[in-house]
Amino acid sequence: MPADAPTPAPKRARILALANQKGGVGKTTTTINLGTALAATGKRVLIVDNDPQGNASTGLGIGRTERGVGTYELLFGETTVAAAVRGTSIPKLFVVTASADLSGAELELVELERREFRLRDALSSAGADYDYILIDCPPALGLLTLNALAAADSVLVPLQCEFYALEGLSQLIRTIERVKRTFNPSLEIQGVVLTMFDRRNNLSDMVAADVRGFFGEKVYETVIPRNVRVSEAPSHGKPVLLYDLKSAGAQAYIHLAGEVLKRERNRQSVHG
Ligand SMILES: Nc1ncnc2c1ncn2[C@@H]1O[C@H](COP(=O)(O)OP(=O)(O)OP(=O)(O)O)[C@@H](O)[C@H]1O
Ligand SMILES: [Mg+2]
Repeated sequence: MPADAPTPAPKRARILALANQKGGVGKTTTTINLGTALAATGKRVLIVDNDPQGNASTGLGIGRTERGVGTYELLFGETTVAAAVRGTSIPKLFVVTASADLSGAELELVELERREFRLRDALSSAGADYDYILIDCPPALGLLTLNALAAADSVLVPLQCEFYALEGLSQLIRTIERVKRTFNPSLEIQGVVLTMFDRRNNLSDMVAADVRGFFGEKVYETVIPRNVRVSEAPSHGKPVLLYDLKSAGAQAYIHLAGEVLKRERNRQSVHG
């Protein structure tokens, strides 16, 4: 590079929050497997386990007893991402685990200054080290999820293909709108991903059509099928891409990563 060339702007990670206050819809599964698929394309990816259940940490092979400092300490300014981050069995995929104390954080945060911005502040120092930061949220719209939404550039909403899929979504959308108005004006919805699709079940088709009617193009074309390999993988501490790359679930997450990257490229070409 010539000496007078402008220094390139430091790269800033794109931060995606995986959120839906409904439990068991595939937030953690999508965080782990989308993260793995993005890392497989060469991106540096950080997963932040922001759920006291710690399922993302377990699913990445880091059991409860092996976790040191993690998201709790990040939120309370007691550590940095650089100090808390752990490697995983996947090259370029890193994790900040949910520490045991995280279950108390929701209440303890209430007392703090800048209580919605704790995660955003903590992640600001890590922006140059990663291409993507994925935040796995708990099934609630409390302060942990608000911290994720305040830190994020965009939200990815996993929706399970079941009868009640759309129930409670208006509450999630109202929360996203409120966060946009109050503390994160540029927050957008990256997309909605249909999970646990069962093609033998007509209901899955009906729900998928309903969700597409409601969210239009926000819904990714990729649909994650219900697949037993996906549900087995976490008990081996592995993403399904590592556990059984050929499985329909692993392949679907690879496609999803392609779509997420495509949306990011389109966004860049619009916003420069
Ligand atoms: N495509 C799939 N096929 C089969 N099982 C799946 C699939 N996706 C997720 N599961 C299983 O469904 C359960 C719920 O998934 P997951 O933990 O990802 O949901 P969640 O939204 O993170 O839940 P919570 O709200 O409790 O955090 C898990 O047991 C997971 O292994
Ligand atoms: Mg989860």
